[in-house]
Amino acid sequence: MQTQEFIRKIEDRTARVGVIGLGYVGIPLVLEFGRQGYRVLGFDIDPVKVDMINAGKSYIKHIGPERIAAMVEARLFEATTDYARLPEVDAVLIAVPTPLDHHREPDMKYVVDTAKAMAPHLRAGQLVVLESTTYPGTTEDLLRPILEAGKGLIAGRDFHLAFSPEREDPGNKHFNTSTIPKVVGGLTPACREVACALYGKIIGQVVPVSSCAVAEMSKLLENIFRNVNIGLVNELKMLTDRMGIDIWEVIRAASTKPFGFMPFYPGPGLGGHCIPIDPFYLTWKAREYDCPTRLIETSGEINTYVTEWVVEKLARALNDRKKAVNGSKVVVLGMAYKKDIDDLRESPSLKLIELLKDRGAEVSYHDPHIPRVPILSPMRHYDFHMASQELTAQFLASQDAVLVSTDHSSYDWEFICQHAQLVVDTRNACAGVTGNREKIVKA
Ligand SMILES: NC(=O)c1ccc[n+]([C@@H]2O[C@H](COP(=O)([O-])OP(=O)(O)OC[C@H]3O[C@@H](n4cnc5c(N)ncnc54)[C@H](O)[C@@H]3O)[C@@H](O)[C@H]2O)c1
Repeated sequence: MQTQEFIRKIEDRTARVGVIGLGYVGIPLVLEFGRQGYRVLGFDIDPVKVDMINAGKSYIKHIGPERIAAMVEARLFEATTDYARLPEVDAVLIAVPTPLDHHREPDMKYVVDTAKAMAPHLRAGQLVVLESTTYPGTTEDLLRPILEAGKGLIAGRDFHLAFSPEREDPGNKHFNTSTIPKVVGGLTPACREVACALYGKIIGQVVPVSSCAVAEMSKLLENIFRNVNIGLVNELKMLTDRMGIDIWEVIRAASTKPFGFMPFYPGPGLGGHCIPIDPFYLTWKAREYDCPTRLIETSGEINTYVTEWVVEKLARALNDRKKAVNGSKVVVLGMAYKKDIDDLRESPSLKLIELLKDRGAEVSYHDPHIPRVPILSPMRHYDFHMASQELTAQFLASQDAVLVSTDHSSYDWEFICQHAQLVVDTRNACAGVTGNREKIVKA
């Protein structure tokens, strides 16, 4: 395999990059390669997305259509559903979903389908990099045999194979694709060298590691670290609430320690495509080794339970006002799983709405970034259709409770607390509100 020839193509920017899965991860990667003058061919099974891209449009709110349009017009970016075009590219970066199935076990369907679609079209000399978050061993034990079965090409000999976890953080104003260091593990040293050379063109710092499994595991460690620490503060929140201690003040005080402490914040439960899901990729794999992962399982349980705790807290606050949840009007503020983005995957707001509806509440929501749910395609676990309400003084006053689930920056908390009857706040969003404090219940 011509490793040096490949690197020369990367250096002189004649290498063409393929990105499979044009979503929250895939599109920023495409744009970075485009910015550095590489031609990119994007693959997606969703023809609506492919058509939108080729028409220069964006379906991701924080990515302006002008950036896609500029790349398309410069003939640097084209999208297709046709895997037969795979030989046109030199490198193939795979960023397809890795969710959980109904039994909360890894759903590798998208990775397997992608590998099967690629296999008959794989070309000798290509570089294949998996970027999807997954359990250690996926690249070598799952992806590799499917790719090799296609045309009999051998990974590490006839084509390069690597894993590089994605650390994209949509909506983060301080870091973007090019400034977030990228960990890269290869099947062989040559695989790693080629992958590092490619990523080095778009990313400031590339971090080579000794194997694909180390790279896979490093991503899980990062997200499990967050999951466990959020579980810890959620547990402490439920305890300190009973003790009459404000957890937010406690965290503020502890954060003044200049070393050995890093603040994490409680909330209504975990959301997003990573933190609630990724730990279960490892706990599933750990079972194969008969090795318990108690801490990870427990934090998962706490972070799931805290959503029910919030509903209980709201029920008590209504009860204190001589009202039942059944028949009460509750508006949930913020549908996205975190502030200032339009992504509602695994959002705790969805679970809150479901739990409140189960108890007979009349539930509505407001989100400046999500005018309706579902957004594009049906939701995996929920089956309701709702539209965002306008947050007028009259509407707020008509609600028995306002439940703050996501603290988008655009919310005017003074206005909300002024007109609402009751505000149940899971984000400490109303900390700065001066008047109407008696209406605010922290949850
Ligand atoms: N969203 C994030 O912030 C983030 C951050 C870090 C890591 N990740 C990981 O990156 C991976 C991708 O996540 P995402 O958020 O970009 O997902 P996404 O749902 O936004 O995008 C995935 C895309 O893959 C396409 N797809 C599915 N099956 C395909 C197939 N067989 N062939 C071609 N295209 C196919 C889908 O149509 C979709 O457009 C996941 O493993 C996720 O855990 C995501």
